[in-house]
Amino acid sequence: MDRRGFLRTAGGAIAGLALFGLSKSKNRWTSGSPELNFKPPSTNLSLYERAATKGLVYGAALKTRHLRDAKFLASFVTECGALVPEFELKWSALRPCPESFDFTNADKLLAFAKRHGLIMHGHTLLWHRSLPAWFHETVTRANAERILIDHIETVVGRYAGLIPSWDVVNEPVYPGDGRSDGLRTAPWLELLGREYIETAFHVANSTDPRAQLVLNDTRVNYTTRDQEKRRRSLLKLLEWLIGRGVPVHVLGVQAHLWADEKRFDVAVLQRFLQEVADMGLDIYISELDVSDQRLPPAIDVRDSAVARVYYDYVSAVLAVPAVKRVMTWGLSDRYTWFAESRPRSDGLDVRPLPLNANLERKPAWAALAAAFDAASPR
Ligand code: G3I
Repeated sequence: MDRRGFLRTAGGAIAGLALFGLSKSKNRWTSGSPELNFKPPSTNLSLYERAATKGLVYGAALKTRHLRDAKFLASFVTECGALVPEFELKWSALRPCPESFDFTNADKLLAFAKRHGLIMHGHTLLWHRSLPAWFHETVTRANAERILIDHIETVVGRYAGLIPSWDVVNEPVYPGDGRSDGLRTAPWLELLGREYIETAFHVANSTDPRAQLVLNDTRVNYTTRDQEKRRRSLLKLLEWLIGRGVPVHVLGVQAHLWADEKRFDVAVLQRFLQEVADMGLDIYISELDVSDQRLPPAIDVRDSAVARVYYDYVSAVLAVPAVKRVMTWGLSDRYTWFAESRPRSDGLDVRPLPLNANLERKPAWAALAAAFDAASPR
């Protein structure tokens, strides 16, 4: 039995007991929303295995500092078929100064991925955030294109054949900036115009022609005026790129959701995703998590409400065949960016992810498992 097999069995056995424990107190799964009635799964297959039987990839975000937590890693290897570095491939992690690159932490995550047969997704080549301190005083209109090309050629070139997919541009759309094309006045756009997006995809494609190239964006799931504007701007951007022969292959949909109210309309969401698919693109749900920040304190109520959103959302998106990956932005409540970014006013630990802080499977895990089990094969 190889290491992945051993870890999966060990992790699965632990998880299985926890699952059994949860299933014994069946009411905990349904007390928050009685119509939600997850049967304890008939088998102890992990999320990775359930997704894989349908031709889907399930994985989660990971940070280098998590690599020293052996128990957490055992659960990660059991449940995930892919990892995405939460920070380590961003400019502020890779670029200590204009002349150099530091791949130390990214390489540690890649080594972990390869050791356990996990896909490693690259996030993100260009973003308006997490830029190093030297960026704004160094990058000018005169040198911006060279710096952009050099960054992408160096990073994608180093991992060519090892990282099979890249978020090339993250969050390019922001209608709030008032542009007619709905694009964000990100530093790269101010320096190079919207053609920076085109350049980035072409350079990434010529550097690693095998890589799946992703345009990743956020806040496009809900039926609010702002998010409808974002969806329209994103569709216009994709049409423009594809019309100019730009090698964009995938739309990444981040999906940082809220548990306190149902804000997406299944038909609106599916229509949007199908419009993207009709352009010939695949879709990755790239950063899924469900915030319980504004829910009442009771854990079973929060866990059920979070599970409900996981089930409703993932079932809705998997009804669109072009959706090929579901990545949660973390695997366990032990490590979630919501602890800092969406903390609870009562100071209780947040519970947005499939496993609790003790690495036990929660109703959210069962919800994801049920959604994968019900999905059509890809
Ligand atoms: O590693 C350094 C550490 O050496 C230093 O002492 C410390 C000082 O603050 O900072 C550490 O870096 C932090 C990094 O996470 C690693 O933990 C950065 O300050 C912090 O800004 C960074 O936050 C990440 C954020 O993106 C910005 O890059 C979050 O963990 C990550 O969850 C978040 O993820 C983004 C996606 O990339 C894009 N979609 C939205 C999502 C949430 O904002």
